[in-house]
Amino acid sequence: MSDQAFYSALQTKLDTLQTEGLFKPERVIASRQGAEVVAADGRTLINMCANNYLGLSGDPETQKAAAAALEKYGYGLSSVRFICGTQTVHKELEQKLSEFLGTEDTILYAAAFDANGGVFEPLFDENDAIISDALNHASIIDGIRLCKAARYRYANNDMADLEKQLIAATDAGKRHKIIVTDGAFSMDGTIAQLDKIVELAEKYGALTMIDESHASGFMGKTGRGTHEHFNVMGKIDIITGTLGKALGGAMGGFTSGRKEVIETLRQKSRPYLFSNSLAPMIAGASLAVLDRISKSTELRDRLHENTAYFRKEIERIGFTIKPGTHPVVPVMLFDAPVAQKFAARMFELGVLLSGFFYPVVPMGQARVRVQLSAAHTREQLDTVLKAFEQAGRELGIIKN
Ligand SMILES: Cc1ncc(COP(=O)(O)O)c(C=O)c1O
Repeated sequence: MSDQAFYSALQTKLDTLQTEGLFKPERVIASRQGAEVVAADGRTLINMCANNYLGLSGDPETQKAAAAALEKYGYGLSSVRFICGTQTVHKELEQKLSEFLGTEDTILYAAAFDANGGVFEPLFDENDAIISDALNHASIIDGIRLCKAARYRYANNDMADLEKQLIAATDAGKRHKIIVTDGAFSMDGTIAQLDKIVELAEKYGALTMIDESHASGFMGKTGRGTHEHFNVMGKIDIITGTLGKALGGAMGGFTSGRKEVIETLRQKSRPYLFSNSLAPMIAGASLAVLDRISKSTELRDRLHENTAYFRKEIERIGFTIKPGTHPVVPVMLFDAPVAQKFAARMFELGVLLSGFFYPVVPMGQARVRVQLSAAHTREQLDTVLKAFEQAGRELGIIKN
């Protein structure tokens, strides 16, 4: 407490974030997560900004499965996996995830952030090349930083640039090359062109890795992910993902792939070796979620119906969106102060969503991001669309 200048410098930086409009306040919810939430002030809001794609976060069946696992396996392990933190429920979940994703083996982490943070360093060194999409998630970027491999970056979803980087890595004589991409990008709702990525990987003898945090559970005909969507199941070397979005929404992550890869990670991956086991109630609930979505595509189908409906209607009203099919729908407002005002007005009208502007998205690309859920009813979506129309007219964004 003797270095007062340290605290003053921090306060100055925090003040700057406030004046630049970049300070992130936390919205306090007084209810469970769901299509509707109760704010701390008691108001009910329609929630359009959760990653609750399948609506399972506040779902009673998920909760029941978690409660059963809590009862059977207790609250926690007070241990990392390799000392005394592995229960049958962890092994069952790893096996079930492998079956679901079409891989040989899977390793659990406390978060997808840890899965991505711990995947590169044990597998690659300075003789190797990691070729990464420019818009990959922060956890992939951090994971790559922790590894000595050479880094190559290609423009978002740009296959010509990816090929250029593959040629550069090949010319540099790199031993192993791995192409790394988010399966779906959460800011734009863009889906990585996995069919083309796999073709390029085969052409240049590269490995492939996808982060399925915004895809597992609902992309592809039976919800396996973007590899199913593009019909390249079995052709992706490493899949990472989260249990904290569509697959239940609590927390937890995983890496899945060939058994040699997963065993190496069990032996060497630092966030796995030096961090506690996933809480057994999360593992138990995740198992129930995987069972449920493997038996029926009902939730996935409802999510896609909601997405198609919202995308069509919001354009009909007169808003511009980024085209696509993903349940992340960026509604483009372009101007940062307009995006801020718009999100605030929508909040007053009872809709929770988030505004994004530079530097989170490129300059001039400010937007509000809508995320659809299987839990949304048609009436809720119509209420949200009406609020969009009202706020859009008030702020002069739509004119007809
Ligand atoms: C693409 C992507 N990867 C990883 C993560 C991290 O997930 P987790 O919350 O499980 O750490 C996120 C979450 O925002 C994400 O969007």
